[in-house]
Amino acid sequence: MSLAKKYPKEVKQILSKYPPEGKRSAVMPLLFLAQREEGYINKPAMQEIADILDITETDVAAIVGFYTLYHDKKAGKYRMQVCTDLPCALRGADKFMDDLCDNLDVKVGETTEDGFLTLEGVMCLAACDRAPMFQTQGPDGIKYHENMTIDKTLELVRTLKNAIGQGS
Ligand code: FES
Repeated sequence: MSLAKKYPKEVKQILSKYPPEGKRSAVMPLLFLAQREEGYINKPAMQEIADILDITETDVAAIVGFYTLYHDKKAGKYRMQVCTDLPCALRGADKFMDDLCDNLDVKVGETTEDGFLTLEGVMCLAACDRAPMFQTQGPDGIKYHENMTIDKTLELVRTLKNAIGQGS
């Protein structure tokens, strides 16, 4: 179902915050709205947002691609986004990521077999001196986890699973 049909009040409210000639600025909140339910933004939603704002779908897709908070693919219940940018790599982020892949039995970009977690590598999250670090995105919002170890991370995964009743 289209955004405008599903969330007519919210769409109207978002658009009302911008002057008609600057309505393209509403792209971020509309994307956020589209992502709210499924955790990602599919192509029809991107097209609809482009139509609402009189911009191209490519413009919308470029924004989705640029920001780590927007996603164009379905993922696990949680996304774990590990910063592997250079400053973090110098503090061991690459090895941390490799070890995480081994422990979670996934490759970067993949989702664990139980559908709980998708592991992603991302660029700087502005916590360069506290690597290895990652952010999680899930039902409890966006959380930062800094100075992490594999043990602390696996413990966190267990805690998150228990919190949503998916623990073993
Ligand atoms: S480089 Fe990783 S948080 Fe900045």
